[in-house]
Amino acid sequence: MDEKGKETLKSQHGIPVGDNQNSTTAGHSGPTLLEDVYLIEKLAHFDRERIPERIVHAKGAGAFGYFEATRDMAGYTKAKFLRNIGKKTPLFVRFSTVAGEKGSADTVRDPRGFAVKFYTEDGNYDLVMNNTPVFFIRDGMKFPDFIHSQKKNPRTNVRDPDMAWDFWSHSPESLHQVTILFSDRGIPKDYRHMNGYSGHTFKWVNNRGEAVWVKYHFKTDQRVQNLSVEDALRIAGEDPDYHTKDLFESIERGEYPSWTVYVQIMPYEEAWTYKFNPFDITKVWPHSDYPLQEIGKLVLNRNPDNYFAEVEQSAFSPANVVPGIEFSPDKMLQARIFAYADTDRYRLGVNYTLIPVNSPKNTPVNNYYRDGFMRVDDNGKWSVNYEPNSFSGPVEDVSGKRIKYGVNGFADSLPYEKHSEDNDYIQAGNLYRMLSGEEKTRLIDNIANDLKNVKPDIVKRQLAHFYKADKDYGTRIAAELGVRDFGM
Ligand code: HEM
Repeated sequence: MDEKGKETLKSQHGIPVGDNQNSTTAGHSGPTLLEDVYLIEKLAHFDRERIPERIVHAKGAGAFGYFEATRDMAGYTKAKFLRNIGKKTPLFVRFSTVAGEKGSADTVRDPRGFAVKFYTEDGNYDLVMNNTPVFFIRDGMKFPDFIHSQKKNPRTNVRDPDMAWDFWSHSPESLHQVTILFSDRGIPKDYRHMNGYSGHTFKWVNNRGEAVWVKYHFKTDQRVQNLSVEDALRIAGEDPDYHTKDLFESIERGEYPSWTVYVQIMPYEEAWTYKFNPFDITKVWPHSDYPLQEIGKLVLNRNPDNYFAEVEQSAFSPANVVPGIEFSPDKMLQARIFAYADTDRYRLGVNYTLIPVNSPKNTPVNNYYRDGFMRVDDNGKWSVNYEPNSFSGPVEDVSGKRIKYGVNGFADSLPYEKHSEDNDYIQAGNLYRMLSGEEKTRLIDNIANDLKNVKPDIVKRQLAHFYKADKDYGTRIAAELGVRDFGM
């Protein structure tokens, strides 16, 4: 403080800064002196302000809130935050677009990310979801290629519809998600007016060691609302941070967005005999077979105080599951279990869980990890740093052990085992047929407008997929593009 009681400016080392306007030079017009250590520190810090943006989902917005259990799920899972009606668990959510860079416009046609970090008493549980219940591919092996095809052309640095449709036309399993993407839901009104879906199947395990399969659905209480193509284009130009602003301002106004949380539950043994492979993330489970069961409410009621500290530095991972929740053999989920912590060690550093938004809030962290870049806590002080030990170090907790499960077959590079209705076209066709006349017309216009700029051989290959899903679907897009012969 100075004599008037004002905060005074200090360097990174706490040293008072005498002049923050003029650098130290040799005379009025002489060169700048190396001994102006404050100038050097200030520039050097500024030079390092940017960290790598997320390889996908780079543009996003986040908020804090809570989950409230509205049903006791103890019969199905021992996860503590899902038991005891009325129990509240604090959480952080980050919404995002997928393909664009950190500075890209919010109102683009793209899936949206919906990542939730529950700060449970058994550690952080992350549900890293999208606003669509399915995904473009079913094996993590294809993810880097898929993303390359959606991002910018390596030569022109411009988004390239040839690349996007080339990949999709060679990957017919993408058809279901492509249909959703080009439907009205491809451009949500904002982050408050969209749903979240785990897409993946997870295993829930109760206290008796019994397991079921679940998929999560977060349904917006604000109602799903979307933007028209015209509004989205206009807003992208006028107000590229429209969704980011909407989330922040609604919470500031006290209009707290909320979602009702449901699960679909499949008995464990049914997975092997169900009509299609239930672990395939390109498919939804029909609600008629597995109805939605309400389990709770998610409410967002607090904005971050600092975007970089709390949103940009947040790190989610599908590998973060708590006792009572385990993995399924979904091949995409299995790949994601590796990818997220790996990218976060690169993006934020090995001690990224010490960043407050990422550290558990309702349980201490006890382990033997030590050191590493940016170890900014007490690094375990003088406590023992190896195990086993005879110095009262933390010991294993049997509640963290997952249940055993059987596997069969030979290790090999293999697609999923086919069930009777495993096919890339049935669910995409069903979705098309469910749309109203106007929705179908908009879907067809949206697709045709994009395909207009795509090479003819790619268009023909893709038209065949639409046709196989539904004759009308393929024929109408072909007619709009003026393509007569696409081999069907
Ligand atoms: C094998 C397939 C996938 C891989 C390898 C993968 C990889 C990644 C990576 C590396 C990031 C950046 C994370 C960061 O920098 O912190 C990310 C972000 C994200 N991914 Fe995936 N992803 C895959 C599939 C999916 C699927 C299927 C979904 C949704 C169901 C999804 C939802 C998200 C979300 C919501 C984010 C943003 C998280 C945040 O807000 O920080 N991803 N993904």
